[in-house]
Amino acid sequence: MDTLLVTGGCGFIGSNFVRYWLSQHAQGRVVILDKLTYAGRRENLHDLWDDPRLSLVVGDIADQALVRRTCQEQGVTLIVNFAAETHVDQSILGPLVFTDTNVRGTHVLLEVARELRLRLHHISTDEVYGHIPDQHQSVETDPLLPRSPYAASKAAADQLVQAYHITYGLPVTITRGANNVGPYQYPEKAVPLFATNALLGEPLPVYGDGLQMRDYAHVHDHCTGIEAVLLHGRIGEVYNVGTGREMTNLEMVDIVLDVLGRDHSLVRHVTDRPGHDRRYSMNVDKLRALGWQPQYDPREAVAEAARWYAGNEWWWAPIRSGEFRAYYDAQYRARLAGTGQP
Ligand code: NAD
Ligand code: TYD
Repeated sequence: MDTLLVTGGCGFIGSNFVRYWLSQHAQGRVVILDKLTYAGRRENLHDLWDDPRLSLVVGDIADQALVRRTCQEQGVTLIVNFAAETHVDQSILGPLVFTDTNVRGTHVLLEVARELRLRLHHISTDEVYGHIPDQHQSVETDPLLPRSPYAASKAAADQLVQAYHITYGLPVTITRGANNVGPYQYPEKAVPLFATNALLGEPLPVYGDGLQMRDYAHVHDHCTGIEAVLLHGRIGEVYNVGTGREMTNLEMVDIVLDVLGRDHSLVRHVTDRPGHDRRYSMNVDKLRALGWQPQYDPREAVAEAARWYAGNEWWWAPIRSGEFRAYYDAQYRARLAGTGQP
């Protein structure tokens, strides 16, 4: 059984993946390498730190000596790279760290994997395809046309991973995930932001007309999709992971408010995000052909996520009342002051 180096394992998807992987693979061993940025939180794995199959190294994926030493000392055979700066709005406010971690950090992991002859699985995103016109669904061979600093850094990483397979024969696989929702998602992202604002009785800042389309997929289905590729995927291949169905942001907001029993008067249309991608949509047939299928449709995924925030104030209340406040003010104070339709 492989020993996994899970980078970014204290973040939202990484922590869900670690929990899922250890629940399914009794002989599994996981070493997390995580810098513990604002989005990386030990409490995301509060129930697992006593498990002898799990260990944590605190550090940066761009630190080549640390990555090499960790892989050698821990007998790592497979790197699963979740570590990233992940929020589009943060990438608009401060883009350089996105290049440091998402591009250079991924490049360092590839170099260590090449040196030590390890397999690397990279977690990419549907945002690398850019805005998708109506009637089209992205397939894995489509060109990458990213439009935000976040998406551009993820596209660069995605292409570096492919280049290492082509040039050096490095055994790699890539999954491109849709918008994930579920437990432990930092409340900067739309669904947890809206759920926690609703629970706090604060307005929900919807960018522009709110008719942008997203495939809101439950993080559980992303984890099973990654597992399917790790176990059955073809080396050198890319796989889309999502539900294959989209909804508008306003539909998502309606589900959140209905589940939480809050009034729709909380919705505020605010100034749009610069360069906001109107629509993401992916075809997921290639992953389905490996025997994978999602358990949640997007409506259930959003509803289930909203319910988790209602039941887990212990997790999000300290974030909302602490460090998150400064970001929230920078991002929303002026927007919310000029309320009304855009
Ligand atoms: P997150 O922001 O919740 O967590 C990111 C984790 O990476 C944190 O634990 C953070 O501490 C860690 N990290 C950041 N910089 C690091 C560095 N230099 N070295 C080591 N660790 C570092 O992110 P997430 O939402 O869980 O996303 C995980 C991955 O999935 C990312 O690669 C992201 O691009 C991708 N993805 C996310 C979504 C989504 O909807 N959230 C969708 C598709 C793909
Ligand atoms: P987000 O969760 O940031 O994911 P992404 O931009 O990577 O898809 O946002 C999801 C959608 O919600 C996106 O269309 C932007 C929109 N949005 C808002 O309308 N208001 C907000 O405050 C946020 C954070 C997002």
